[in-house]
Amino acid sequence: MHHFAYRDGALFAEDVDLREIAAEVGTPVYVYSSATIERHYRLYEAAMASIAPGKPAHVFYAMKANSNLGVLKTLAALGAGADTVSEGEIRKALAAGFPASKIVFSGVGKAESELAFAVEAGIYQVNIETEGELDLLSKVAQRLGKRQEAVFRVNPDIGAGGHAKITTGSSANKFGVSFEEVHRLYARAANMAGVRIMGLAVHIGSQIREVDAFEAAYVKMRDLVLALRAEGHRVDRLDLGGGLGIPYEIPREFDHGPGLIEAYAAMVARVTKGLDAELGFEPGRLIVGNAGILLTKVLHLNPRPTKEFLVVDAAMNDLMRPAMYEAYHEIWPVAEPAVGAKTMAYDVVGPICESGDTFTTGRELSALKPGDLIAFMTAGAYGASMSSTYNQRPLVAEVLVKGDKFAVTRPRQSYEELIGTDRAPPWLA
Ligand code: LLP
Repeated sequence: MHHFAYRDGALFAEDVDLREIAAEVGTPVYVYSSATIERHYRLYEAAMASIAPGKPAHVFYAMKANSNLGVLKTLAALGAGADTVSEGEIRKALAAGFPASKIVFSGVGKAESELAFAVEAGIYQVNIETEGELDLLSKVAQRLGKRQEAVFRVNPDIGAGGHAKITTGSSANKFGVSFEEVHRLYARAANMAGVRIMGLAVHIGSQIREVDAFEAAYVKMRDLVLALRAEGHRVDRLDLGGGLGIPYEIPREFDHGPGLIEAYAAMVARVTKGLDAELGFEPGRLIVGNAGILLTKVLHLNPRPTKEFLVVDAAMNDLMRPAMYEAYHEIWPVAEPAVGAKTMAYDVVGPICESGDTFTTGRELSALKPGDLIAFMTAGAYGASMSSTYNQRPLVAEVLVKGDKFAVTRPRQSYEELIGTDRAPPWLA
C-alpha cells in the first residue's frame, strides 16, 4: 500500500495536500512519503529476518533507485545498509549516515580510484564482477595495507525482468562472472593478500513479479555454494540481490500488502535451508517505488482531429521510464474526479522537442484544463535518480512528507547552477 489518497476532494500525501506543495515549491516536483518508505522497509526487513532466525539477514537498499538525501536518511535511521554502484553513491551513503560497515559496492566497471576510496572507507563488501577487478582490488587494498572482504557476483544465466533493458541475469548480459569461471577465481583469490572472498552474489534483473524466476537462480546459487565448499573454499555469505517488482497498474483502492514479499521470503527459506550462510538482499524499487509521485501541471491542450494532446510541465528528462522502457505509470488528477465524471482519451506529453517525450497515449482521464495538477504515480524508484537536464531543463525539486509536515529535500536546480558550471575555452572566452 502507499500513503497517497484522496481526502476532501484533493489528493494528499499522508496529511499534506499536494496543492499546498505545488503552490509552495512549484511544479514539476517529486513528492515522497516517509510512511510508505518505512512501511515497505519494515515489511521487507522483517520477512528476510524470519528466513533464518538467529542469523543476520542484511538488507542493503539499492540507492540507485532513489538517492535523495531525505530518503537515504529515512532508511539509514531504520537500520538499512546501502548497495552502491559508484564512488558518488558511496560518498552520498556515508553523508546520509549509513555506516561503512553496512555498505556494499556493486557494479560492472569499478575504477581503481573508486576501489581505493571504498577500501579506505572500510566498506563491508565489494561485489566483484570480473577477474580484472579481482586483481585490481587486491593490488589497491594491499597498497593501502588492507584486506578487503568481497564476494563474486555470478551470472546465473537466467533471463527475467520486466523489460529487456533491465534484465541482468542472462549470460548474454554483461553482469558477473560465469558459473564455470568462479571455481578458478575462488582458488586464485585464496592466495591474494588484498582480498578475502566471503561468498557469492547474484542479481537477475528488476521488476520481477514471479518468485519462480528467482527460485531458478537461487537453486543454482545454492548448488554452487555446496560445490565450492566441497572444493575446500569458505562460502559464508550469499547476497541474493534485488529485483522484486511492484504493481504499477493499481486501482485506487489497491492495497498490495505483503503477499509477494512473503512468498519470496518463504521461497528463499526453502532454497537456503540448512545452508548456514549469511544472506544479503539489495532491494531498491520495492522500498521506494510507490512511495513517490511526480506532481506536474497541465500547460496546454492541443486538440487534433483524432485525439487530444495534454502538454504537462514534466518531461522525459524528469521521468525517463515511459520513454526508455515503455513503462506504465498511473495518472491521478489532484482534484478528485466526481463519480461518473466524463473522461477523455489523452496523449500525455512533455515539452521536450522529440516525439519520444510521451508519457502515455490514449489514456482515459477526467477532462483536464491548463493549470490542473496531475500526479504520475509509483515514480519513487528510478524517477528523480535517472533524471537529466536535457533541453537545459533544471533538475526538479524533491520533497519528503512526514505526517502533516513536508520539507524540500532537494531544491529545484537554479539557472545559475544549470548554466554556470560550464566553462568557455580560453580561445573563445
Ligand atoms: N542490485 C543490483 C546489482 C542492481 O543492479 C539493481 C538494479 C538492484 C540491486 C536493485 O534492483 P530493484 O530491487 O530496484 O529492482 N532503471 C530501471 C531499473 C534498473 C535496475 C538496475 N539495477 C527502471 O526504471 O525500471
